[in-house]
Amino acid sequence: MVGHTGQVGRALLNLLDGTGPAKVAQGNWEIVALANRSEVLWPKTSPWPEKRVSGDWPKLIARFRQHPGSKLFIDCSADGQVVEQYPALLKHGISIITPNKLAFSASQSFYTSLQALAREHQAGLYYETTVGASLPVLSSVRDLLTTGDRIARVEACLSGTWSYVLGRIHSGIPFSEAVREAQALGYAEPDPATDLEGTDVRRKLLILLREAGFICEPGEITGHNPMPRLRPPHTAPGSWVRDLPSSDPLWSRRVARAVSRGQRLVFRAGFDGQHARVELVPVPRGSALANLVPGENRICFWTGRYAKVPLSIAGPGAGPGLTAAGVLLDLFKAAGIRTGTDPRVSTPPAEAGMTDGR
Ligand SMILES: NC(=O)c1ccc[n+]([C@@H]2O[C@H](COP(=O)([O-])OP(=O)(O)OC[C@H]3O[C@@H](n4cnc5c(N)ncnc54)[C@H](OP(=O)(O)O)[C@@H]3O)[C@@H](O)[C@H]2O)c1
Repeated sequence: MVGHTGQVGRALLNLLDGTGPAKVAQGNWEIVALANRSEVLWPKTSPWPEKRVSGDWPKLIARFRQHPGSKLFIDCSADGQVVEQYPALLKHGISIITPNKLAFSASQSFYTSLQALAREHQAGLYYETTVGASLPVLSSVRDLLTTGDRIARVEACLSGTWSYVLGRIHSGIPFSEAVREAQALGYAEPDPATDLEGTDVRRKLLILLREAGFICEPGEITGHNPMPRLRPPHTAPGSWVRDLPSSDPLWSRRVARAVSRGQRLVFRAGFDGQHARVELVPVPRGSALANLVPGENRICFWTGRYAKVPLSIAGPGAGPGLTAAGVLLDLFKAAGIRTGTDPRVSTPPAEAGMTDGR
C-alpha cells in the first residue's frame, strides 16, 4: 500500500484495523508493505530490513512479488511516479486499487494500454473512487453499458471542493475562508490548486466518459479556468493560499449577481454527446445542480433508457473517510472477499416496522 501517511491512506488503515470490515472479511490476507515518499515499512517478520528508502521501484516490486499468494497494490497517492509502476505491476498479474486519477485521465493510449495489460495478465484495475469518492458512479456506468444502454448526455457536479466552496460562499462566507474549510475537511486535493483551476473535475469527467466507452484525450475537455491567476509561473507551490483573500470581493460580486437573477453558481461538468466541457456557470435556483448541500456531488445521466428523466446519483462525493470506504469495497472486490453474512437475511431491527414479505 502506497500513501499510508496520507488522509485517505490513514482512513483506510483505520478501516482495516481489526474491527468492522476487517473482521467481516476474515480472509487470509495481510498488508506486506506500506510505502510513502521516504520509506517502505515491511512487517517485522519480513526477511528484509524494516525500513528502506523508497524510490527503487523495480527492486520493490521484485521483493513484493516474492511474497507468496495473490498480491494487490493499493495506491493512495496522487503521484505520477507511482502511476508509472502500474504497467509493471499488471504485467506480473498484480491487481491495482486506487483513488488516484492520474493513470485513468492520462493519454488515451496509456489508459487503453493499462486496460489491455490488465486483461492480458488477468489482473484487475479498481478505481471506482476516482469519481464521486464512494458514490457508485463508474460501476453504474458499467452496469448501464453491460445491459446494452448508452450514455447520451451528462450534467454533473463532480467536485466536493467546489460544491463545498460555492455552497458556503452562497451562504455569505468569504471565498478564501470557504477554501480553507474545504481543505480542513479533507475535501481538497493534495494540491488544492488542482481543484480550484478545474483540473480535478476535467480528470473526473474524462474518466467517466472513457468508462462510458468514449475515446477521449485530456485536451478535448474544454472550459474556463475559474482561477486563472492562481498559479502564475513565479508562484511557489502553496503560496497562492496567502493570496486568496484578495479575490474575496470578486467572488462576493459573482454570487450577488447570480442571486439577483434567481440563480446559483455551480461548477458544472457537461457532455452533450459530442463535446465535453467544465465551467463555472450560474444556473436557475430550481435546477438539479443548484440544490446541493456543500460537499455534495450530483451526476445526471441521460441514456437510451433514461431519455426523458435522467438517472441521478447524488450524495457527499469527497472526504477521506468516504473515499477510504470506497477503496475498501474495491479491495474486497479485487480480493474476491465475500462478507460471509448476507445483511438482507440477518435479523431485522425490531423497530423497522416492515412486513416480512409473505
Ligand atoms: N481526499 C478526498 O476526498 C479524495 C477523494 C477522492 C479521491 N482522492 C484521491 O486519493 C488520493 C490520496 O489523497 P489524500 O488526500 O489522501 O492525499 P495526501 O494526504 O496528500 O496523501 C498522499 C500520500 O501519498 C504518499 N505519496 C506521495 N507521493 C508518493 C511517492 N512518489 N511514493 C510513495 N508515496 C507517495 C504521501 O506520502 P508522504 O507522507 O511521504 O508525503 C502520502 O502518504 C489522491 O489521488 C486523491 O486524488 C481523494
